[in-house]
Amino acid sequence: MKKFFVLMMAMTCVIMAMACGTDPEEVDGTTGATQQTGGDGDGTAKSGKSLVVFFSRAGENYNVGYVERGNTAKMVDAIIELADVETFEILPEVAYPSDYQECITYVNDIEVPQNLRPKYKNDPGDLSAYDNVFIGGPIWWGRPPYIIRTFLEAHPELAHKHLIPFGTHAGSGVSSYTSLLQEYFPEASILEALGISGVTAHNNASSTRSSVESWLKRIGLDHESTDIQSVRQTRATGAQRYSLNGTRYAGNRDIYIENEKKYVKQ
Ligand SMILES: Cc1cc2nc3c(=O)[nH]c(=O)nc-3n(C[C@H](O)[C@H](O)[C@H](O)COP(=O)(O)O)c2cc1C
Repeated sequence: MKKFFVLMMAMTCVIMAMACGTDPEEVDGTTGATQQTGGDGDGTAKSGKSLVVFFSRAGENYNVGYVERGNTAKMVDAIIELADVETFEILPEVAYPSDYQECITYVNDIEVPQNLRPKYKNDPGDLSAYDNVFIGGPIWWGRPPYIIRTFLEAHPELAHKHLIPFGTHAGSGVSSYTSLLQEYFPEASILEALGISGVTAHNNASSTRSSVESWLKRIGLDHESTDIQSVRQTRATGAQRYSLNGTRYAGNRDIYIENEKKYVKQ
């Protein structure tokens, strides 16, 4: 059975490489990033409110067995820890098959040829308040699942924002997220994408964290680049530390708020 999965994925990756022009550097799960800048920006976002929109499928997946949380969801955990973001998870109204082979067949035989727009639960409403929107998920047959298109079509207000593609894959890279965003929102500023191998995202939290950390720095959305003020000789007094948007800061760095500013203890 495992051999069959490997064969399926090999075929998939060949198809993907032919169809989408895979970037070789994206294939490496630990260094997998492509530099993409769009609009009139300098490739960084620097300020503003950020939202992470993602889709991730639990169940059986390539080389990870049955998982309770999808690989992209684990990558999102690192983004939440290392940047000031809110999140919206795209949850399908009708669940995809949890069996890997059934899902592969469903997507290839039904979702893609019928150009479906699967519905999702609890749309977050108008996104105008956000400056930076991360959009990510897995790669399915060389492209983002079509439920991502359902989301993009429901949110024309994404057109002039900083958009940040990301996701997990089994070798194809995530450049198809970048091209999809370019196709839907040619006026948007599309920043560098980060693709991580799903197996790495599932099994290796520290490698995932380190790839995410350097990527966030490069695109200007890590804590230091956004609104942390670095100070000396100031002690964190309170027991609890909060990010500026009011959510509890759950990272392992010593970051706290004072006089409505966020500080990192030195
Ligand atoms: C239906 C389906 C199609 C897939 N097609 C590809 C593909 O074309 N290229 C690739 O690299 N990985 C492919 N994969 C593997 C997933 O992209 C990879 O396991 C990813 O990490 C899953 O993310 P998730 O757990 O967040 O859903 C496919 C997986 C499924 C279920």
